Amino acid sequence: MADSEVDALRRWRGTAHRQQPRSALRRRLTALVLMVGGGVACTSASAQDATVAAGEAAWDKAGCLQCHGASGEGGSGGEFPAGPSLRQTRLDRAALVEAISCGLPGTPMPAWLDGAYAKRVCYGFPLGPAPAEITAMPVLSADEVDALVDFLTAKFIGQQQ
Ligand code: HEC
Repeated sequence: MADSEVDALRRWRGTAHRQQPRSALRRRLTALVLMVGGGVACTSASAQDATVAAGEAAWDKAGCLQCHGASGEGGSGGEFPAGPSLRQTRLDRAALVEAISCGLPGTPMPAWLDGAYAKRVCYGFPLGPAPAEITAMPVLSADEVDALVDFLTAKFIGQQQ
């Protein structure tokens, strides 16, 4: 591009800029902010959907439904131990993560976290082998347990079937 062209372009840009009324600029800025904001809101909504979907996959992988029912309504017993309704649980998030990761000692509720007791402290036990009264089913990662709790919270807990 020749120097004169660049100069002309600069001049043109300069005037175009100057000629634009302030309110139009402000409108553009507002539109931009809304677009960016909308984009962020969209991303976090779909990120949440993705986590819930990952949680559902973890629910299927672990086979929680065998004892807790297909939609967490509580198992009927028979071939598998009858797990309670998860729709009616009163556990908070931290207690859910602990129960699912570490199991419920002395009950048929297994510990699902890979590394529970050995690498992650459970119920304040010193790190080491899981206590004998725990059934270890170490098939979930910490991220999967987290996603599973998101899934339970979004789809089951506190909801009628
Ligand atoms: C082999 C059967 C079995 C499987 C499989 C099983 N659970 Fe359980 N679960 C139980 C039983 C039984 C209890 C009740 C223990 C008790 O308190 O007596 C329980 C309790 C729980 C509780 C505590 C509920 C409360 O309000 O106290 C949660 C949460 C839970 N299970 C989630 C899960 C999830 C999530 C999975 C899959 C990763 C799962 N369970 C798989 C048998 C099972």
